Amino acid sequence: MASMKKRQGSIPPIFVALLLQFSAVFVVAGVVRFLSIAIEPWLLALASGALAAACSRFAGLERWWLPIQLLFLPALWLMLTFSVPPAVYGALFVILLLVFWSTFRTRVPLFLSSNATWRAIDDLLPPPDAAHPLRIIDLGSGLGGLLVHLGPRRPHDQLIGVELAPLPALFSALRLMRYTHCTVRWGSFWKLDLGEYDMVFAFLSPVPMQDLWTKASAEMRPGTLFVSSSFEIPGQTPDRIVHVNDSRKTRLLVWRMR
Ligand SMILES: C[S@@+](CC[C@H](N)C(=O)[O-])C[C@H]1O[C@@H](n2cnc3c(N)ncnc32)[C@H](O)[C@@H]1O
Repeated sequence: MASMKKRQGSIPPIFVALLLQFSAVFVVAGVVRFLSIAIEPWLLALASGALAAACSRFAGLERWWLPIQLLFLPALWLMLTFSVPPAVYGALFVILLLVFWSTFRTRVPLFLSSNATWRAIDDLLPPPDAAHPLRIIDLGSGLGGLLVHLGPRRPHDQLIGVELAPLPALFSALRLMRYTHCTVRWGSFWKLDLGEYDMVFAFLSPVPMQDLWTKASAEMRPGTLFVSSSFEIPGQTPDRIVHVNDSRKTRLLVWRMR
């Protein structure tokens, strides 16, 4: 497993995923032939997808590859069987591109925090106070759920989201149009100065956490809060851990910057 992970560091994950797909078809077709059984093409596609998905974790692919691996061949079969018009492929491709934009590069996919997590984040903040407005940012704000939750509850604060993927950025900007104190920026949080914020929230993936900590500790002001949902920072013990009662059993790792 460790050696596979190491190897995956040099081979882009998309090639590992494709290699697994080809190997899975080869293995399943080989078994079918060996046993001399007749099998419907859709079942072959499904079995191959399941095998590719099952092997993905062992090959060091991250968890979010699993549904892609499972559904890739069945989806291909569906499209070929029902002769889907080419425009549908094009539209699907563009939508996926706009949502998952640079996931292959950043290795931070889009998945969403729970309502219980938003409430727990609100509980970490001092009561809303017009005399002491805060600046709160969600790094990689996805569909803007945290900001939509905090918007009506914290009318005096500046609530900011930054999102790299165009479609989620546009969608959340539209959702937040009704709140003048909420904004979503389309772009990368690496370009922002985290010293401007009283609370920085991040729900990303294990990949950027070390570099993000380096940035946060260089830029954030003493006394401000850095909160990572779920993902630890190697070698950095949080000042506080909040256990959220949601299906994911989310942990909020909280640091008060020094
Ligand atoms: C796991 S989702 C979290 C979404 C949202 N914060 C939430 O809690 O529901 C992470 C998001 O970060 C975005 N992202 C990844 N790298 C980024 C970067 N460098 N700058 C801005 N957004 C980024 C991804 O596109 C993805 O939408």
